[in-house]
Amino acid sequence: MKDLNNYIEKNKSRFIDELITLLKIPSVSADSAYKKDVLAAAEAVRKSLEAAGADKTELCETIGFPVVYGEKIIDASKPTILVYGHYDVQPADPIELWDSPPFEPVIKDGKIYARGAADDKGQMYMHVKAFEFMMKTDQLPCNVKFIIEGEEEVGSVNLEAFIEANKEKLKADTILISDTSMLSLENPSITTGLKGLAYLEVEVTGPNRDLHSGVYGGAVGNPINVLCEMIASLKDENNRITIPGFYDKVTEASEEERKLMAKTPFDIEVYKNKLGIKDVSGEKGYSTIERTGIRPTLDVNGIWGGYIGEGAKTVLPSKANAKISMRLVPNQNDKEISQMFQKHFESIAPDSVKVKVTPHHGGKPYVVSIDTPEYAAAEEAIEKAFGKMPIPVRAGGSIPIVALFEEVLGLKSMLLGFGLDTDAIHSPNEHYGIENFLKGITSIVYFYEAYSKLGSN
Ligand code: BES
Ligand code: MN
Ligand code: MN
Repeated sequence: MKDLNNYIEKNKSRFIDELITLLKIPSVSADSAYKKDVLAAAEAVRKSLEAAGADKTELCETIGFPVVYGEKIIDASKPTILVYGHYDVQPADPIELWDSPPFEPVIKDGKIYARGAADDKGQMYMHVKAFEFMMKTDQLPCNVKFIIEGEEEVGSVNLEAFIEANKEKLKADTILISDTSMLSLENPSITTGLKGLAYLEVEVTGPNRDLHSGVYGGAVGNPINVLCEMIASLKDENNRITIPGFYDKVTEASEEERKLMAKTPFDIEVYKNKLGIKDVSGEKGYSTIERTGIRPTLDVNGIWGGYIGEGAKTVLPSKANAKISMRLVPNQNDKEISQMFQKHFESIAPDSVKVKVTPHHGGKPYVVSIDTPEYAAAEEAIEKAFGKMPIPVRAGGSIPIVALFEEVLGLKSMLLGFGLDTDAIHSPNEHYGIENFLKGITSIVYFYEAYSKLGSN
């Protein structure tokens, strides 16, 4: 496309200023205290689409936060790209661990630091700016529709009903999403898989009240001790998950696929150093890339109970709780896995306690085929922008709506993400590289160009 690098060079400081303005809005969807801010972020995104040249921009009501919509239809005979992203962010806490306030963005060492910088405001905004360039220079080669939602970080609970009700409006040929990461700027990659998710909360109840830990200790089941034992038993000595049937539907990678994965440019020493750990840990017989990409996992996300205030209080608590997530791989079904977990967890509880298991939101895994014209277009786009052929990599994260896009709309998604695993998404000091942001814009424009050529030859 004509003038692309020039346009980005001339406008990049404005692009960054605009992104910073958006990052200042604390659109935390999980916390009702931020409701107004989430709505303000929706309106800011709508305006940005309108200013970039989109038609019919609107906030589409849902039971929860609105979906921002906008479109540009240049020619009904041309293909249509549906762009998806999210304007909500994760809570910022633990806030005391941020070096600068999460909603007062700062630029340091070529990176923007703020909650949502990479997940997903910074990545979503690349699409707005790529679209702006194609509109302002009169080079948009195909039709485009945008849906930017505000509930991704809380499980996209109302988006399914929205897409069910708006099949016609969302008619398109492919979906384009930037909400994942790549290996590095030197080794660009395309995400070819997302994990599914089963998330549950468990409560273990022992005695009907908190007890003196000397008077009753050693004689009455302590729910925290019991919960820890139960959790520990969910994995064996090889770190394989012990829930009966858990692996039944997991497809094993072929030797050939595993050989290819072993070639992924990934430095385990750098990985360990960046995390401040002496060694990695996971399922025996699999590499780190395999553990995060193609193997299902189980993790405790939170655990509480008993006395956690200052000093010591000698107490044998009545209750203990934990939040547990399982990341799933192709063929595993989140509802089935949740049921398996529930049945197993109840079955291993000793008679000294009662357990209650409550499922939370879940989602199905997703895989992208690398033998499609869309993938070829994505490869071409990344190669042009980064000067290097991208390699396919499966992600450990989840975007549950992607499987539903396929089920409900019959559309495949291309996961063109430009974050890095070290961007600290969901953590303190989240950041996004300015080079990632700008190369992302370039890549998106090249994708439109390559994708639009498909239909004409
Ligand atoms: N953008 C992430 C998902 C992601 C991150 C995919 C990195 C691949 C690489 C998304 O916003 C997210 O955080 N998803 C949640 C699931 C959701 C149901 C809360 C997740 O993966 O925990
Ligand atoms: Mn995200
Ligand atoms: Mn996220």
